[in-house]
Amino acid sequence: MAASAPFLSQPSQASLTHTPPKRTSIKSLAELPGLTSIPPIYIFPTNANDQPFSDAKESIPTIDFSHLTSNNPDERSKVLQELGDACQDWGFFMVINHGVPESMMQAIIEACRGFFELTEEEKQEFEGKHMLDPISCGTSSNVSVDKVLFWRDFLKVFQHPEFHSPNKPAAFSEIALEFSTRVRQVARIIVRGISESLGLEGNYIDEALNLEDGLQFLAANFYPPCPQPELALGLPPHSDHALLTLLIQNEIMGLQVQHKGEWINVNPIPNSFLANVGDHIEILSNGKYKSVLHRAVVNNKDTRISIAMPHGPALNAVVAPASKLLDHENNPPAYKAMKYKDYLELQQSSKLDGKSCLERIQDRTI
Ligand code: OGA
Ligand code: NI
Repeated sequence: MAASAPFLSQPSQASLTHTPPKRTSIKSLAELPGLTSIPPIYIFPTNANDQPFSDAKESIPTIDFSHLTSNNPDERSKVLQELGDACQDWGFFMVINHGVPESMMQAIIEACRGFFELTEEEKQEFEGKHMLDPISCGTSSNVSVDKVLFWRDFLKVFQHPEFHSPNKPAAFSEIALEFSTRVRQVARIIVRGISESLGLEGNYIDEALNLEDGLQFLAANFYPPCPQPELALGLPPHSDHALLTLLIQNEIMGLQVQHKGEWINVNPIPNSFLANVGDHIEILSNGKYKSVLHRAVVNNKDTRISIAMPHGPALNAVVAPASKLLDHENNPPAYKAMKYKDYLELQQSSKLDGKSCLERIQDRTI
């Protein structure tokens, strides 16, 4: 592939694996006066399949959260059907009427903006080394394995089962605690609905994967304006590893979802959550619900901030296809059982690349 992409200039593999280069934030690069082109390390090879994207003849389905908690049985069974269809057809859906106040959503976005605007020295204190560090910030994704760097800075903070927070900016901790607590309640009710929509007991996933101790992160992305947005990516195509991610953003678009082989621009309903099925729902459902590829593109005008809240199993939970969904003749298990913590370790050692992690535990002997 490198041969067909002569503009791609990459440091040698050796220099990447032995001495990961120290990278300053994308924010400070983007703010360099007179920056009109991007350094080659940020140029993604173009891929014929990547190019066409449609402006939604179809759009991402909407789930009315209030119906999931409704006492009206017709309303509930209808929304469970819609949720199941959304997970099967799209892997993505918008969640409205979730009850998390708009002011809280604005406040967490501003708190994250405040974090990214700290000085490089202040942020350095929070640079994590490992996926399982409770607080980490940096640029790209994993600069020791990323061959092309992403046009984004990130902050990743564990919110549950133990709550962590950077101590700067001052208001961050209080806002994050309030927000993540509310979002976790929403996520657990959606997961309960997903469980029912699969024909399992409502509390099946909750109990099998010990969601009482489930891992929840706050993963904030900062995408500053890019002078050559058509060459760079904020995040390359990937699936999310957890069970369910809930995402919010400031008013700037940039998320694209793969649907029927095309990249679809996502234009979320204001103040909704954008939900997506993660790898562990794919595993649990034995592939009935797929974790869907998505990516973030950048623009040359506005800074985009998004906050993804992945909700996963407990670190020690072993995830496997639900036995009730299997039938050894017609629907044998298609994924190997694996501890969630081991999956995260596997992901840490790989580059963010499509669904490569999930593919490694798919049982190809079947
Ligand atoms: C992510 C992600 C998309 C976005 O953080 O995993 O897919 O729109 N983010 O920022
Ligand atoms: Ni994602």
